[in-house]
Amino acid sequence: MNIKEGIEKRFSVRAFKDEAPSMDIIKKILKTANSAPSGGNIQPWKVYVLNNESKNKLTKKTLHNFDNGVQEEIEYNIYPEKLADEYKKRRYECGADMYSALSIEKDDLDSRFKQIRENYKFFGAPLGMIITIDRSFGNNGWGHVGMFLENLWLSAIHYDLGCCLQESWSIYPKTVKEITKHPDNEIVWCGVAIGYPDKDNPINKYRTKREEIDSFAKFIE
Ligand SMILES: Cc1cc2nc3c(=O)[nH]c(=O)nc-3n(C[C@H](O)[C@H](O)[C@H](O)COP(=O)(O)O)c2cc1C
Repeated sequence: MNIKEGIEKRFSVRAFKDEAPSMDIIKKILKTANSAPSGGNIQPWKVYVLNNESKNKLTKKTLHNFDNGVQEEIEYNIYPEKLADEYKKRRYECGADMYSALSIEKDDLDSRFKQIRENYKFFGAPLGMIITIDRSFGNNGWGHVGMFLENLWLSAIHYDLGCCLQESWSIYPKTVKEITKHPDNEIVWCGVAIGYPDKDNPINKYRTKREEIDSFAKFIE
């Protein structure tokens, strides 16, 4: 697969087969992802790979929080408090398309809640990852980690794996830290569900839309 095909083939995988990729493959993916560029080559990414056992421990603790309405102090806002209309529209559409792929009606709050809950099971992926960054970095450093994450995702595709990035883990930073035991100077940015995609699951069959180039690029003369 060439680079263009890999980029265009990527999508968020939210249902997985039971078979786990070997740690050898995971290490190869991380090695390739680590070729990502970063300003001054600072390489500000930190990755905590969870095997089936540690992943299940995290899932159990987090679902207990989720099911009992336990809230933790969040360390960053996933979205700005006031999401401008342009972005709000896309966010709404993205959710609506996903629920429609699952045949979940707008007012079926139980089924919607169950689907959100899947986040904390890493969508059934056999392995999970937690991505942190040193809290001293501002927006610029987070951008560098983004480069690493896209590399990670594309490298996973090279091995027939699929991923879903999950900022949903940032809602439970204290619980995540109980498992990853990362140092205090690191902030939980997101999780990564990773495994072999269950291609037959309807959630993996829909694709998100994109705007036309003119909506984000200006050609200055
Ligand atoms: C940093 C980041 C965090 C994300 N967090 C979540 C998440 O918590 N749960 C989820 O279901 N999808 C999550 N996503 C997936 C996005 O919803 C998805 O990338 C977007 O809708 C575009 O769809 P596509 O990845 O299939 O192209 C996240 C994506 C990114 C880049």
